Amino acid sequence: MKVTVVGAGNVGATVANVLAHKDIVNEVVLLDLKGDMARGKALDSWQQAPIDYYSTMLTGTEDYKDTAGSDIVVITAGIPRKPGMSRDDLISTNAKIVTSVVDSILQHSDNPIIIIVSNPLDVMTYAAHASSKMDKTRVFGMAGILDTARYRAFLATALKVSPKDIQALLLGGHGDTMVPLPRYTTVAGIPVTELLDMETIDAIVERTKKGGGELVKLMGTSAWYAPGAAAAQMVEAIVKNENRIFPCCVKLDGEYGQKDVYLGVPVKLNRNGIGEIIEIDLNDDEKALLADSSAHVKKVMDTFDGMNL
Ligand code: LAC
Repeated sequence: MKVTVVGAGNVGATVANVLAHKDIVNEVVLLDLKGDMARGKALDSWQQAPIDYYSTMLTGTEDYKDTAGSDIVVITAGIPRKPGMSRDDLISTNAKIVTSVVDSILQHSDNPIIIIVSNPLDVMTYAAHASSKMDKTRVFGMAGILDTARYRAFLATALKVSPKDIQALLLGGHGDTMVPLPRYTTVAGIPVTELLDMETIDAIVERTKKGGGELVKLMGTSAWYAPGAAAAQMVEAIVKNENRIFPCCVKLDGEYGQKDVYLGVPVKLNRNGIGEIIEIDLNDDEKALLADSSAHVKKVMDTFDGMNL
């Protein structure tokens, strides 16, 4: 198996490094217009292999020819947020980058699975899917695993339990309108509502929604450890044909009452990409929050359409 990661910034380099640690693919190619940065980070990760015991070969390049025959491509290219910016502010720069990356990738790889990580995530997934002309089961975005991980980590802190024992679900766009679902959150099988009062849960939900922004404020740029690990976990589910259930951003064609919009929903991930979209019952409040998130993403999709790329 060959995986290409496009963008050798913090997130892309973390995807490549975490993936290599899983030791589940033969080859990871890290591509960046700044070829030396890609070569350097790949070489640094390869030199970690004798210490951490993995065989995955990492190489860096600026040449798309070196990505030929990729089975999976993770696109992290684009600029990250600076303090005070929303993810949507990145669209004018990142839309051009993401569409041209997809075109270049498809010149050298036939029908790879493409995972989008660039922001604004939902609209970049739309841009990539549209320009790829591929099936929607093979072009989708990473956000839900990250947002759910933040939610789970905050809950673990509040409950003083291991984050391993927290299972949760979150829907919607990757932004302040995301929809964490306390009704579908458990701690070792115990509904979280039995363990925390609603006020604490609500505060955690609000912190989760702004979780990316909290890190941008602290670091002056956006996060990379959890985003990189989340994308690598998606690659793992695909490579191992695991049928894992993760919230991923995918085009909806009527599921959850939403059409022609790209939103995070629970899916089954396997060797073919998205095996199935899983629909669960939502109550009226949850439906309203999802509709709101969908309307927000659609507005940014319209901005992308207006760019006529
Ligand atoms: C975040 C960026 C990756 O949420 O969107 O940290």
